[in-house]
Amino acid sequence: MKKYAVCGVSNRALNMFLKPMVTTFRDHVDLVAVLDIDPRRFEVLHNEAPETKEVATYSDKEFDKLVEETKPDVVIVAGRDSTHVDYILAALEKDIDVITEKPMVTTAADCKRVLDAEKKSKGSVTVTFNARYPAIQRRIKELILEDKVGKITSVELNWYIDTHHGASYYKRWNRMRKFSGGLSIHKTTHHLDMVQWLIDQYPEEAFCYGTRNYYGSESPLNPSKKDGRHCSTCTEKAECAYYSRWSSRSSDAAPKDDHLGTIKEMRSGSNYTDYSPDMCIFDSEIDIEDTYSATVRFKKGAFLSYTANFSSPFEGYRLAINGTKGRIETQQIDCRGTYDIPPRGIDYYPLFGAKESILVVKGEGSHGGSDPLLQEDLFLGVDPKRPYEIMAASEAGAYSVALGEALWRSSETHQPINIDALINGDV
Ligand SMILES: NC(=O)c1ccc[n+]([C@@H]2O[C@H](COP(=O)([O-])OP(=O)(O)OC[C@H]3O[C@@H](n4cnc5c(N)ncnc54)[C@H](O)[C@@H]3O)[C@@H](O)[C@H]2O)c1
Repeated sequence: MKKYAVCGVSNRALNMFLKPMVTTFRDHVDLVAVLDIDPRRFEVLHNEAPETKEVATYSDKEFDKLVEETKPDVVIVAGRDSTHVDYILAALEKDIDVITEKPMVTTAADCKRVLDAEKKSKGSVTVTFNARYPAIQRRIKELILEDKVGKITSVELNWYIDTHHGASYYKRWNRMRKFSGGLSIHKTTHHLDMVQWLIDQYPEEAFCYGTRNYYGSESPLNPSKKDGRHCSTCTEKAECAYYSRWSSRSSDAAPKDDHLGTIKEMRSGSNYTDYSPDMCIFDSEIDIEDTYSATVRFKKGAFLSYTANFSSPFEGYRLAINGTKGRIETQQIDCRGTYDIPPRGIDYYPLFGAKESILVVKGEGSHGGSDPLLQEDLFLGVDPKRPYEIMAASEAGAYSVALGEALWRSSETHQPINIDALINGDV
């Protein structure tokens, strides 16, 4: 049985890795160590998963000690994005395999460091892109492999992150480029990787407009220009449309989400060390964009037209893939009960001939059923019945991060950016 250590006892680590490792997969993996900068995280872990109480705990400075004492075969990296690079490099240096949450790292320069380190190491890097796993994505991948589209000519992708989910990024560390790389890396790495995986092409050049329209102190939705407010204690929350959308004066009915979902301690905001999940979305320290519109050319000739909006009335995406033999289209939108936009499967339009509609069987579990499948691939071995590669390596991790960086950099310079040049430090 392989021995695993987890660096970063985050909300995501708890639900995606730690709890499943000591329950569903306990006969297949041996969790030997956890590491985090905040000891309070270990208390929460022990409360949430009492089976972990005997697992060795280490502080952020004790990676070497962790390896010496517990000798892991695999290090799972799942803390704040900006911490990934250090643990990935430290593990590779010791020839240990790495499984890292997305984004692999937060800059193109760090991508190069990881790629170079991996070449010298006996260890390898896997990036957990769960956005490849939903049933819709896997069926589209199969249709492309069945040559239904022919040579892929262009992709249209519009991603909508609703006011609740979108705002959650601006309440936490994600709102600072130095911690997350900005949302063109932290979040859109999922979308950009999904495209590069579906069409089997890496990006070559990108141009983008990106700006901040909704969040930050200059937002037209900001009730007043005051820094340092927190939702839990804010005296202006009745004037805040983002807060009032989910909460009345007497109750907070905000839906659960990825980040604040399962842990009561996080929702109250005060229990972790140097960590707040409810900082004001209108603070002036916010330094990242919330709106992108990009054009990308891929290496085998496909074009991508991509938009992302982090304050949308609904959540989801519209995707179309065009080729010399046909077009695939889907729309996956969730309105949190507000509007009625009927769910759609996949529509296939051959260039000449009748349209076909495909309904897929959706999986159970978080992120549209993707997380349980990814956990099985990680801990039981990749499903041998799946006739295509789905697990992402460092190369996909690097291209998705570098493309994300190209988006925000191009927004600033108004110039197209070559992705390989960015990775190689020539931009
Ligand atoms: N694939 C997905 O669907 C998905 C969803 C959510 C989050 N994520 C990713 O998972 C990771 C965790 O995100 P989250 O929102 O759950 O995080 P979080 O805010 O819950 O936790 C961040 C953790 O990092 C720790 N940390 C900070 N500095 C550290 C250091 N120097 N060394 C070790 N630990 C340190 C914090 O103490 C905390 O435990 C991120 O990389 C995020 O991008 C992926």
